[in-house]
Amino acid sequence: MSNTAHLSLNGKELELPLIEGSEQEVGIDISKLRAATGAVTVDVGFKNTGSTTSNITYLDGEAGVLRHRGYSIEDLAENASFLEVAYLLINGELPNAQEYADWDHQIRHHTLVNEDMENIFKAWPTGSHPMGQLTAMISSLSSFYPESLNPNQSEEDQHRTIRRLIAKMPTIVAMLHKKAAGHPVIYPQNKLDYVSNFLNMTFKNITEDYEIDPVYVEAMNKLLILHADHEQNCSASTVRIVGSSHANLYACISAGIAALWGPLHGGANQKVIEMLEAIKNDGGDAQKYIEKAKDKNDPFRLMGFGHRVYKNYDPRATIIKKSCDEILDKLGISDPVLEIAKQLEETALADPYFAERKLFPNVDFYSGIIYRAMGFPVEMFTVLFALGRLPGWISQWKEMRDQKQPIGRPRQIYTGPAARDWVPMEAR
Ligand code: ACO
Repeated sequence: MSNTAHLSLNGKELELPLIEGSEQEVGIDISKLRAATGAVTVDVGFKNTGSTTSNITYLDGEAGVLRHRGYSIEDLAENASFLEVAYLLINGELPNAQEYADWDHQIRHHTLVNEDMENIFKAWPTGSHPMGQLTAMISSLSSFYPESLNPNQSEEDQHRTIRRLIAKMPTIVAMLHKKAAGHPVIYPQNKLDYVSNFLNMTFKNITEDYEIDPVYVEAMNKLLILHADHEQNCSASTVRIVGSSHANLYACISAGIAALWGPLHGGANQKVIEMLEAIKNDGGDAQKYIEKAKDKNDPFRLMGFGHRVYKNYDPRATIIKKSCDEILDKLGISDPVLEIAKQLEETALADPYFAERKLFPNVDFYSGIIYRAMGFPVEMFTVLFALGRLPGWISQWKEMRDQKQPIGRPRQIYTGPAARDWVPMEAR
């Protein structure tokens, strides 16, 4: 293959260099395009635009492949702890025993949040959505650690900010859960591992002992790993673009959480359960809802179905679907919406509309059923996604800053009115 692309524009010929990735993906480097021709590219929704080169995550949507730093998602979900995956994403390599022990120790000893953070809850009306609260709580960390406002932090200070975020996020997430229930907050226990500590803070009641169920620990660990990174998606791109202005890391993560909240992105996991419940309450007719999803005059979409990049089964959905059966079985729970989900999937996959558009279940289709079986309220589902995605966002931010990338600032093609004269109020 040639190593340049040729563009002919208004009689000018331009050679555009090709960039080839380590998995032979090809990109056309247009960085000199405007200077050479005066033209820019237009690609609304970035369907054809690579915003960066990256060493973190490889995704082949046609083949249904997902790897972090070269390791398959299947291997990581089967063998790793979430903290190991977080280390891998942020530092580029799996930790050896000593590195892991140090990392684990540091995370365990940053779990407390400032007591003043509880005061923030006093300002929110009852029933506030926890995703809105999470964006505010994470952004507020910049007030408690103002040294993070320095965009030229030393490497050690930057690592401390990263450790604080990873360590405090489960404490904050559990706090949101407790406050929504009107229950007292449970403090972190540094003797517990990351996932057990989170479950303890979430499900322990102050008045009673709580035994951490290893089935829950395993399920939560796997779910967090499956959500840990997904290359240049909407929220990761948001984190990168906010970070490109040298905003502090807490603000960048808060922006990523806001982007994740939307129902076309991470917010879909809440919408899936609400959709499945609605179908159940309407008699459980999967076919009726498939027809609604196909009807272009009906705004209904099959939530948890379809993906910008996967045009094959999402490998994370394969793992979650299997886990869903196993976990419900182990917990002795039979959830009628699981049957509706399977029926919906089977009906959709056999339908030419979904086949032609290559629409398959995504990561959100079955995850909510597991969260619900564990006892999480539906409003917390996207918050749990954010907890898992945190190391991915941090690694994307860090890579962007380490590569000293310029501020993100797309161009546009203006299509509004041409220059016109001012019209005085009485003449309008
Ligand atoms: N139900 C019905 N039709 C769908 C669905 C769906 N869930 N998803 C896509 N389509 C159809 C579109 O109507 C379009 O049809 P057309 O070609 O006849 O116009 C075609 O499939 C292509 O869809 P687009 O919306 O153009 O694809 P895009 O890449 O822009 O959107 C998205 C991807 C947002 C994920 C979309 O599939 C969707 O809305 N899915 C439901 C929400 C969801 O589950 N989001 C979570 C994604 S995973 C994640 O972010 C964690």
